[in-house]
Amino acid sequence: MQRTKVADLLRSNEIGKTFTVKGWVRTRRGNKKVNFVALNDGSGINNLQIVVDMDQFDEALIRRITTGAALSVEGELKESLGSAQKVELHARKIEVLGDCDPEKYPLQPKKHSLEFLREIAHLRFRTNTFGAITRIRHAMIFAVHQFFNQKGFYNIHTPIITASDAEGAGEMFQVTTLDLENPPRNEENKIDYSKDFFGKPTNLTVSGQLEGELAALAMSEIYTFGPTFRAENSNTSRHLAEFWMIEPEMAFYDLNDNMDLAEEFLKYLIQYALDHCMEDLQFLSKRLQEEEKNKKASERSMELIEKLKFVLENQFVRLTYTEAINILENSKPNKKGKFQYPIQGFGTDLQSEHERYLVEKHFKKPVILTDYPKEIKAFYMKLNEDNKTVRAMDVLFPQIGEIIGGSQREEDYGKLVQRMREMNIPEEEMWWFLDTRRFGSVPHSGFGLGFERLMLFVTGMTNIRDVIPFPRTPKNAEF
Ligand code: 4AD
Ligand code: MG
Repeated sequence: MQRTKVADLLRSNEIGKTFTVKGWVRTRRGNKKVNFVALNDGSGINNLQIVVDMDQFDEALIRRITTGAALSVEGELKESLGSAQKVELHARKIEVLGDCDPEKYPLQPKKHSLEFLREIAHLRFRTNTFGAITRIRHAMIFAVHQFFNQKGFYNIHTPIITASDAEGAGEMFQVTTLDLENPPRNEENKIDYSKDFFGKPTNLTVSGQLEGELAALAMSEIYTFGPTFRAENSNTSRHLAEFWMIEPEMAFYDLNDNMDLAEEFLKYLIQYALDHCMEDLQFLSKRLQEEEKNKKASERSMELIEKLKFVLENQFVRLTYTEAINILENSKPNKKGKFQYPIQGFGTDLQSEHERYLVEKHFKKPVILTDYPKEIKAFYMKLNEDNKTVRAMDVLFPQIGEIIGGSQREEDYGKLVQRMREMNIPEEEMWWFLDTRRFGSVPHSGFGLGFERLMLFVTGMTNIRDVIPFPRTPKNAEF
């Protein structure tokens, strides 16, 4: 089953040599003398042109070379006379590995809408757009591990099934072996979870942070990169019910150190994409520019590669939540001068329209907001001396809004317990977490980067369903 990858062959200068390639047909065109087959095997955005001399092959075989069919082709590499590619493969042997009925195959050799492709998500890997996104996603996963490995962070696997709610927001998917239509009940007629597999109610994790803290308070600098689950109303273009999150957690880091790391990390990932994914980025950029043509000039976004470089060249603006509220209160976001969700002073939970206003219209740079009101943030964040705000940080990006959420953690046992009581977090169930504050507690910080939000930014795609292979959103979990 030896084969050469299409991408390697396109870069090759071994003219005159024989190669075997395998892949899927994108198109076939030509005349009675010669046919041209565009073949792709996922190794790159560009197809290999296969030249088929019609005299040398059976008509019956040629007819089976349809869009979507899988082929194995042996042939000689030659310089191409066409301007679209440098080399092409002149076929000597063609084997159809898998036929594809063109009448029934949903993918046609033309541009399909992203909405249509979402309906046939099981086949969309075979399009140029999703090929590019898949390769960039892989490169970003690799870059995440490379960044932290170079810095001496340890990767920790945190549990997927857990009894705790890391964010205290109650947005969990329950995991149970009980028959919930007819559950065992105790004397008080409540569901008897002692009969469940784990003997207590459990759920899919919303974040690996709490377990990450346990590891950081021994290993100093760690990170997790795992799937997280949120049963929130995720019917927006920026929310998924299942998404991947990267969560570094560092002992001996304060909020400033945390912000420095977040900025360095994001810039590293973007630089990595520019260094390793240029062909795919250029393809996506061209695709985006075509869509932008139909928009008003004022609504058009920056060209993709320019936008990525722009983030690298600028220092992120850092300001407090309170300063941001002042700016937003005095701003005129549109002709009516209003936001859809009005800013109602200190305490307002910022919506993505507010975040994007600050980044895209006011500062025109990525922004890190800090020191949010304690009421709108999680229980574990360190309380400031004002007793009103916590050492939170949200990194806001153009087009996205919040891309990172993090904080310095409350390291003081007494203060943490008090915050938990105020927020009705059952402390007896969190004894293991509180132990870190009882035994050798130190200042520490961390953050979570939503991997698909990063992917939205890097690819310029506008719907989060298009940057994860199998999106989980409400009423959507078939395959
Ligand atoms: O702000 P969040 O909820 O923070 C945490 O979970 C912390 N435990 C992180 C930490 O400090 N270790 O989520 C972090 C990031 C958000 O900034 C966003 O990028 C992403 O996760 N995110 C989502 N991405 C896709 N779909 C959703 N439903 C998301 N919810 C959060
Ligand atoms: Mg958040």
